[in-house]
Formats: sequence, C-alpha cells, structure tokens
Amino acid sequence: MLINSIALLNKAKIKGYAIPQFNINNMEWAKYILEASNECQTDIILGVSESAIKYMGGVNTVVGIIKGLIKDLHITINVVLHLDHGKSFNICKECIDAGFTSVMIDASHMELDKNISLTNEVCNYAHQFNISVEGELGAINTNIHSLNITNYEDITTYLKETSVDALAPALGSVHGLYKEIPNLDFDTMERVKNNFFTPLVLHGGTGISNKDIKKAIKSGITKINFNTELQIAWSTDVKKYINNNPNIYDPRTIISAGEKAIKEVVIQKIKLLKGEYE
Ligand code: 13P
Repeated sequence: MLINSIALLNKAKIKGYAIPQFNINNMEWAKYILEASNECQTDIILGVSESAIKYMGGVNTVVGIIKGLIKDLHITINVVLHLDHGKSFNICKECIDAGFTSVMIDASHMELDKNISLTNEVCNYAHQFNISVEGELGAINTNIHSLNITNYEDITTYLKETSVDALAPALGSVHGLYKEIPNLDFDTMERVKNNFFTPLVLHGGTGISNKDIKKAIKSGITKINFNTELQIAWSTDVKKYINNNPNIYDPRTIISAGEKAIKEVVIQKIKLLKGEYE
C-alpha cells in the first residue's frame, strides 16, 4: 500500500532503527527494490529525484509504474513514494497532485528565512492531503569541499518555525562517492534528538561505513538515503555481462543482468538499518 512517511518514521524513531530510502531510476529498479523489500517484509521509501521523474516521462508515469508494480507483484509491504530534493513549490504540488505520498522541499540554497517560508508553503499544501514533507538545512552537495554544514542553532529555528515531518540537516555527508572519509557531526544529531521529536534524515548513504551508519541511527537518524551504491552495483554487473556476452542485444536480458546486484544491496541495507547486520 502507498502511505506517507509519518507513521513509519515516528515508529522507527521510537524503536531506534531507520527506514531506508532507495532512489529509483526506471521501472526495473523500482521492481527489483520492491521485490527485495517485500521478501524482507520491510516497509520502504522509494525516492525519485526531479531528474529521474523527467527521465521516466513525468510524475504521472512514475505514479502509474509504482501503483502498477505494487498491484501486479502482490507487494504487501507499505511503500512511501517520495519526491527527493524538490527544488520548488510547483514540483512538490505536481507530485502531490499526481499521487506521490511524500515530498522533499529542498530550499537549502536559500537564506534561512526564505527556506523556512518556502518549506511552510509546501507543508500547508501537502498536509491538507495527508502528504508528508521533508526539509533540508545547510546544503548536502556532491563534493566534501563544497559542503555547507548546518548548526544546532539554525536547526532549532527551522524546527520551531516550520511544520516539516522530517529534516535532512547537512552534517557532513555528501551525495555520490566520498573523496575523503566522511566526518559526520554526531554531537549535533544527538542534541537535536534530545530536544526535538522530528525525525532526522541522512542523505548520501553510499560510502558511509556500517559503523557510522549505526552510530548515526543511535544519534537520532531515522531515515537513510541510498542511490549511488545501487547504481554502482547494477552497472558493474551489467558491464561484466556485456563484456562476456558481446552478441546479446535484448534489452531485457542486459538490464536484468544487474538485478541480483541491486537486490543484494537492498537486502543488506535493510538488515543494516534494522540492526541485523554488522
Ligand atoms: P547517495 O547517492 O550518496 O547514496 O545519496 C543518495 C541520496 O542522498 C538521495 O537523496
């Protein structure tokens, strides 16, 4: 069933585990992630970026694919269909109107007061339809040297002045591959955990050690996003398959060569976030 993220994240926060967000790039990825998560009987969040939405054809296509897969594959877990890093009110509204159950408004490029007011505009619209909203503070970029790390004071202001259901604060993680070992600000996570109930989100899950993932969950992180690691696992096996089978041309066979690799990453992350994996 498609649901918003509120109950999932609040339960995870109380019980001390985290919900994985896996980003999708196409129908096949969604299918593999749904099948692997259903096998584990673990509720998940499917993240779709603005560029992935565009790539797949548009918001209605994405909603159609996910609803169709849930029905046809007899998926029995709860699934959150979430816009990842929505940069404007319009894209959030478009996703909500099409049937997404959760959106992220990433106004982290704006000044704090402007970020707060745009976030609230999205919350006001989303909450009328029972859609969850994630916000971002500081800026989670793709390069450790362009990090714009946030601080406890700004987080306090943001949480007091917005009605977000989850917050992704930039506390040392980056999207994509790390050029240096990530240095996460666990103290700030812990301070937020001790003073606010709002679940915290860790973006850039790829490349963070299992030890740090577990420490982050203990420090209040309730949702962790993974994308690049799945892309690398899939493309490594597909490249190997093509090299070994140069005469193959059926796209279904080629794309499926990465299925096992994606599923293995999904199952490993699910277990890790539940505390069942070292
Ligand atoms: P990675 O690609 O680094 O795993 O990050 C994913 C992410 O945070 C999506 O929002």
